Amino acid sequence: MLTGMKHLHSTLAIILLLALVVTIIITWVNYASNKPYNRKIALLGLISAHLQLVIGLVLYFISPLGLKSFSGENMGNSLSRLYFLEHPLMMVLAIVLITVGYSKAKKLEDSQKANRTVLIFYIIGLIFVLSRIPWSTWSILN
Ligand code: HEM
Ligand code: HEM
Repeated sequence: MLTGMKHLHSTLAIILLLALVVTIIITWVNYASNKPYNRKIALLGLISAHLQLVIGLVLYFISPLGLKSFSGENMGNSLSRLYFLEHPLMMVLAIVLITVGYSKAKKLEDSQKANRTVLIFYIIGLIFVLSRIPWSTWSILN
């Protein structure tokens, strides 16, 4: 179960990063050339983010690196702290930002405003995600 969830979480991380980058590029091009907002593309990023949230939450409770390692002593260990505190917190914030951006854009009639809203929220979300991926220990890269 743990191994399967970790593989799924790793694969979804790549899909989510690609989805966010593709959404940002396409929305940027649409914004710059005054084209309509493409909601289907933004939905791709939103669905990947929500799926990753669910898998991440499961991992948080079953992995030895998640809630089980939450302790005062582990606070002083930067890698432990990344896994049980900083990674989950920043990723949840990033997913909230992406969801708020998608939701706000959905309600806007003006294409340019919708494009701009998705751009701002998805870019900040992507920065949050990039800032707290466990790069040095990510199984795919190491
Ligand atoms: C902990 C689990 C989840 C939470 C807290 C959550 C929360 C939310 C919230 C707050 C929205 C915003 C609705 C709006 O204002 O437009 C939303 C939309 C959405 N979620 Fe999730 N979600 C979760 C899991 C999932 C999963 C597992 C999927 C499917 C893969 C999913 C797919 C979607 C889709 C497709 C929408 C957008 C619908 C639309 O077009 O408006 N979510 N979700
Ligand atoms: C934007 C969403 C997220 C991305 C891109 C992401 C990415 C990653 C990556 C790349 C790893 C390393 C996996 C490995 O070494 O094989 C990881 C591990 C982990 N993530 Fe996430 N994550 C996200 C959201 C979350 C959330 C919301 C939670 C919890 C609430 C979470 C909990 C964990 C845990 C506990 C691990 C350690 C699993 C282990 O190795 O035992 N993640 N994540």
